[in-house]
Amino acid sequence: MFTTVMRPALLAASRSPRVERTVTSMATTRKMVRRFVAGETEEQAAVVTADLLDSGRYASIDYLGEDTTDIERARGTVSHYLALLGTLEGLPGSTGTVRPLEVSLKLSALGQSLPRDGHAIALEHAHKICTAAAAAGVWVTVDAENHTTTDSTLGIVRALREDFPWVGTVLQAYLLRTEGDCRDFSGPGSRIRLCKGAYREPAEVAYQDRDAVDASYLRCLDVLMGGLGYPMIATHDPVMLEAAAGYLRSGRRGVDGFEFQMLYGIRDDEQRRLVGTGAHLRTYVPYGDQWYGYFMRRLAERPANLAFFLRSFGPGARR
Ligand code: FDA
Repeated sequence: MFTTVMRPALLAASRSPRVERTVTSMATTRKMVRRFVAGETEEQAAVVTADLLDSGRYASIDYLGEDTTDIERARGTVSHYLALLGTLEGLPGSTGTVRPLEVSLKLSALGQSLPRDGHAIALEHAHKICTAAAAAGVWVTVDAENHTTTDSTLGIVRALREDFPWVGTVLQAYLLRTEGDCRDFSGPGSRIRLCKGAYREPAEVAYQDRDAVDASYLRCLDVLMGGLGYPMIATHDPVMLEAAAGYLRSGRRGVDGFEFQMLYGIRDDEQRRLVGTGAHLRTYVPYGDQWYGYFMRRLAERPANLAFFLRSFGPGARR
């Protein structure tokens, strides 16, 4: 029922401006949002990041926003990233080959969805952020959005990698094409974050069945772990985590040869446990006031998240 009815409904609502107006105006929502979002300002994101670094974790910080069709807003997003990179100065920088600090970018927030020249504008904006990140010793990873953007996104990533070979990107195991993309991106120096995928996608391009998505994740994991790049294993799923740990135990990957990634506010105990085993773990830290789409995707992922949200409206709930 959750997978077949609630999940598609929540993902559809995540793109509805009308539902957005209702949900974002509720005080109860804002309280729950803080479970998944570090705050609204660069300073709040930096405080959360400093705590994560203190606990032995790395961080990837994302200024929330997506599907921008307004050039001024896209420019504003670039300014927020530049301010963020300035705010991160002073936090521990690179200690070896792995950089503790990274920023994650959504190209649709940088102008990719603009009706004219969106691809070129997003590339120019991402290039500007990469230049500042390089100076600050911070990595950049480009997030994956819905499948209509995948070709443009991977094209932009390839162009960025000509000047910044450490730029990473995300591949979504639910897409039928992704095993092939993993092969293309498994060469030396490549950094790929493998996730299951968070958008509502049609059967022509994506596996619909949970078992098929999981099987694809395991095949993609095998390609990346067997390749020459640096895999970033983004999941909270015990089965996927155990599969990745298996490569470590069998000696097919060293502990410095990959990292785990999880979202801020999700499975915090497991994040700490993995760090305790000596593994690299990076927490994805979103911040900013445009949290609606991100928040709705988290509700769509797990019945417990939705139940917690709905319970907060019940009798006795504190607003
Ligand atoms: P999934 O949701 O399939 O759950 C599987 C199992 O994991 C559950 O049955 C449960 O056992 C366990 N589990 C999951 N959540 C739990 C919780 N809160 N508490 C306890 N157990 C839990 N997507 C995208 O499309 N583009 C992107 O760029 C990114 N980027 C990204 C970065 C990072 C760092 C992460 C971790 C994820 C993403 N994602 C993403 C989101 C991703 O595609 C996916 O939607 C979520 O990670 C959920 O899938 P999982 O693999 O975590 O497990």
